[in-house]
Amino acid sequence: MTILYINACVRENSRTEILAQHLIKKLQKPVQQINLGQIALLPFNLELLQKRNALIKAGALDDPMFSYAHQFANASEIVIAAPMWDLSFPALLKTFIEHINVGGIVFKYSGEGKIVPLCKAKTLYYVTTMGGHHQTDFGFGYIKALCHTLYGIKDVRLIKAEGLNIIGNDVPAILEEAKAQINTMF
Ligand SMILES: Cc1cc2nc3c(=O)[nH]c(=O)nc-3n(C[C@H](O)[C@H](O)[C@H](O)COP(=O)(O)O)c2cc1C
Repeated sequence: MTILYINACVRENSRTEILAQHLIKKLQKPVQQINLGQIALLPFNLELLQKRNALIKAGALDDPMFSYAHQFANASEIVIAAPMWDLSFPALLKTFIEHINVGGIVFKYSGEGKIVPLCKAKTLYYVTTMGGHHQTDFGFGYIKALCHTLYGIKDVRLIKAEGLNIIGNDVPAILEEAKAQINTMF
C-alpha cells in the first residue's frame, strides 16, 4: 500500500505543499513522490508524439517513457498537490497528465470502443490553495473528470484553502482551518 504523491507546487514555502504534507502524515503509509518541478517532463511536440505512438504501436509499454503511467496505474492512493494558477493548475501537471494517459496502461478500449479504466487507486486527494475565491475550479473539475472517465477512481476528494492573497486575511488561520478539515477525514 503506497501513496503516490504528485507534487506540482513550484514556490518555496508553498502553502499547498504544507497542506499536502499534513494530509500525507495522516494517511500513515509509505510515500513515493514525483516532484514535477524537478523531473522536467517535456510537453508533447511532434517528435515526442511520434516516438510515443511508435512505442505504443510496437506494444513497447515497458519503455521508460511510460514509467510514470505504470506508477500512477499501480498506486493504491494518490495525492495531487497543485496551487491554483490561472483558474486551473500549473502546466507542469498538464504535461504529466499527457505523459501518463496511455491506452493500455491507465485505461484501455473494449472491443466495442468503450473506455475501460485500469487504475488501482480507490481514492485520489486533490490539495489546492488559491489567492482569491472562485465559484469554479477548472483544475479540480478536470482532475475529477479524468478520474471518473479514464482512471476509474471513484472517490475523488478536494482539500482547499482560499483567499490566501487577500489583504487582511489571516493566512495561518485559514491554513489551520484546512488542516482541521483534513483531520475530520480520518
Ligand atoms: C502564475 C500564478 C497564477 C495564479 N492564478 C490564480 C488564480 O487564477 N486565482 C487565484 O485565486 N489565485 C491565483 N494565484 C495565486 C495562488 O493560487 C495562491 O497564491 C496560492 O496559494 C499559491 O500556492 P502556493 O503557496 O502553494 O504556491 C496565482 C499565482 C500564480 C503564481
